[in-house]
Amino acid sequence: YVIGIDLGTSSVKALLVNREGKVCGEASESYPLITPKSGYSEQEPEQWVEKSLSALRKLVTDSGIEAGAVKGISFSGQMHGLVLLDEQHKVLRNAILWNDTRTTKQCRQIEEKLGEQLLSVTRNPALEGFTLPKILWVQQHEPELFAKASVFLLPKDYLRYRLTGELGMDYSDAAGTLLLDVAGRRWSPEVLEAFGLDESFCPKLVASTECVGTLLPEMAEQSGLTTDVKVFGGGADNACGATGAGILGPGETLCSIGTSGVILSYEENASADYAGKVHFFNHAEPDAFYAMGVTLAAGSSLSWFRDTFASGISFDELLAGAATVPAGADGLLFTPYLSGERTPHADSAIRGSFIGMDLRHKKEHFTRAVIEGITFSLRESIEILRSAGKQIDTIVSIGGGARSELWLQMQADIFNAEVVRLESEQGPAMGAAMLAAAGLNWFSSLKECAGQFIGKAASYQPSGEQVKLYNDLYPLYK
Ligand code: XUL
Repeated sequence: YVIGIDLGTSSVKALLVNREGKVCGEASESYPLITPKSGYSEQEPEQWVEKSLSALRKLVTDSGIEAGAVKGISFSGQMHGLVLLDEQHKVLRNAILWNDTRTTKQCRQIEEKLGEQLLSVTRNPALEGFTLPKILWVQQHEPELFAKASVFLLPKDYLRYRLTGELGMDYSDAAGTLLLDVAGRRWSPEVLEAFGLDESFCPKLVASTECVGTLLPEMAEQSGLTTDVKVFGGGADNACGATGAGILGPGETLCSIGTSGVILSYEENASADYAGKVHFFNHAEPDAFYAMGVTLAAGSSLSWFRDTFASGISFDELLAGAATVPAGADGLLFTPYLSGERTPHADSAIRGSFIGMDLRHKKEHFTRAVIEGITFSLRESIEILRSAGKQIDTIVSIGGGARSELWLQMQADIFNAEVVRLESEQGPAMGAAMLAAAGLNWFSSLKECAGQFIGKAASYQPSGEQVKLYNDLYPLYK
């Protein structure tokens, strides 16, 4: 067996998978967000360790397997979160997470200081969620604490460090720090120098499928596993989500609608130029990359709508209601910028709207407008990729958006592409398990592993008339 650990924002999930790719057990534990001020979002790293160990214990006990039968573990992690360690590698403060927005000023400082190098080296714009702005914030607001910092990690790297005693960070997660030379696959000397940071402040870079060590004896004991388990680098949650959905070759694109929504497209090399309009990160697949656009409030727009205006109604009922209203919701449009937006606006202060309300509109119209608005917003990411010459004909859809026939067909019509649903969907935890399986050399490549672990269940074709209708609405939405 292998175990994939997905260290998320609200919980950790551990997934037990056998050599055939069958899921044999699952356990999860949640932990709180700490929000001392509006816009702040923090977590206590010790909680990740405690809850992961308890999820592993539960997994091993409930599945009734021999501890020694687990051969490898790997990770998927919430990206960008800053964990600062002192000389003794003790945590100095709570981690500042990807969804914390306190760093607008530091983003402007980064743009000013790096100029064109920001895009040419890091391949990304400076966004509040990324790690470097958080490092600068601590440097400027907590100088005494920062003076004690000897190295920084990302969330799942801290967990891996505690399990193995080895410091490291994989390329796919390092790409979200703004300190990595993404194409050169090294810590950027230019960026480090610009901000007076020493390379020793950055952990050793490892590949996602690289074995970084084995479990420390006390960690093996606390997790119910053995010290023989090999621990592999792991990857950023989006890279692992893509891996777990088989997005491992040219022409493959993913649409994931969870709390946030993501359009992610495989890139064979770093030559594509999207001028910073989408994120460009290293993939968990060795030497590959991906371009990604993010709609911050995707599923959360629908949850917000339900909790505020339709409480007590299930998502299934809500979506069934939306299906009774014609495409285009009789002229009602919604923009999903409830917590700012990344793609295409990169603006943490932008806010959402309903446009075109009239006396005919009922709750069902509003529901339909919300899911259409979320999907239009994701189309903006697809159009950025297409207008740079990328061909997007087939999209694998995962997450909440893939649980509804209505929404899957709507994706096909709004994206004007074939949309595919997977047989069983385990998200980033499956990608993490695949990294361990490939790292153990059970397969010659991640792609071969995907061939064994992942199956496609259904396909939705764009339908001419609806495509035209949505094409006409799209400029109005924009
Ligand atoms: C990606 C991002 C989020 C987090 C969520 O840039 O910020 O997807 O990784 O965990």
